[in-house]
Amino acid sequence: MNTIEEKLLSYAGKVEHFLSQSVSTDDKDLLSLYASMRYSVMAGGKRIRPFLVLSVAKMLGGREENAIYLAAALEMVHTYSLIHDDLPCMDDDDLRRGKPTNHKIYGEAVATLAGDALLTGAFELIAASGLSDKAVRHAVLTLASAAGADGMVGGQIMDLSSSEEDEDFNRLIKMHSLKTGALMVAAVKLGLLCAEGATEADATAFTAYARYLGLAFQIVDDVLDVVGDEAELGKSVGKDKEAGKKTFLHYLSPEEAMQYATEITERAKASIAGYPANETLTELADYLLKRQK
Ligand code: IPE
Ligand code: IPE
Ligand code: MG
Ligand code: MG
Ligand code: MG
Repeated sequence: MNTIEEKLLSYAGKVEHFLSQSVSTDDKDLLSLYASMRYSVMAGGKRIRPFLVLSVAKMLGGREENAIYLAAALEMVHTYSLIHDDLPCMDDDDLRRGKPTNHKIYGEAVATLAGDALLTGAFELIAASGLSDKAVRHAVLTLASAAGADGMVGGQIMDLSSSEEDEDFNRLIKMHSLKTGALMVAAVKLGLLCAEGATEADATAFTAYARYLGLAFQIVDDVLDVVGDEAELGKSVGKDKEAGKKTFLHYLSPEEAMQYATEITERAKASIAGYPANETLTELADYLLKRQK
């Protein structure tokens, strides 16, 4: 039986192979744009969201050759969100996935456009999948709404306007649910729609799992920004405090925040406890809680 680390590596390899083929060009006028896109897409990263797509599809009998399109599309959207998140007008970060941020290498204009192209390219990939027209329509709606104004982008705008003074706990939970949770929920929904027999009850269970997983994930992200090791994390630490952002650590000590994340992780696991083949997603939840990067 493979460990969760081995399972993550195995799916990451497949997704990276697919992404490498999808994000490429022969047009020499576009080489710098594609170089910038590939720089971030191929920089590594944990590939958690595509892992969720592929794992949920597998659990419910979906075909991997279809799911890989949706998994890669979601990772492209996530990568675009990171490129834009790091821009000087946003979090102004220098380090991402263990390398200088995209704009540090390619400049702000190219980095912005690389993000734009990854976002739009994701929908091209979905349309090119072998899924039925109905499933494609459903996938487009799922990803667009999770990534957009009522999803990740909405969370980012709440994050930009967050300050030490005005934050309340419920606003913080909402911001985390949008900026991080929405793409996690999209991941399981994309996995579900690869499996034709998935029911409403499946959707309810997996969506609950992903909501809790996403919340715990962002709490741990906030903790690692305080206690994490920059080299291991592959991104700079101490940025939230420097930027005056109110995170969970305004309310809770790192230990209390981790305790809270542990409780939320238990709820994630409980949401899918009724599935005989829940082992991989259960292990993933525990793995993400203990992660150092
Ligand atoms: C970082 O996401 C941004 C957040 C939503 C907290 P990940 O921690 O999944 O980043 P990568 O993809 O592994 O680099
Ligand atoms: C970003 O949250 C979430 C995104 C939508 C990209 P953070 O700003 O906390 O992510 P990191 O810490 O830079 O990865
Ligand atoms: Mg940010
Ligand atoms: Mg950031
Ligand atoms: Mg962070």
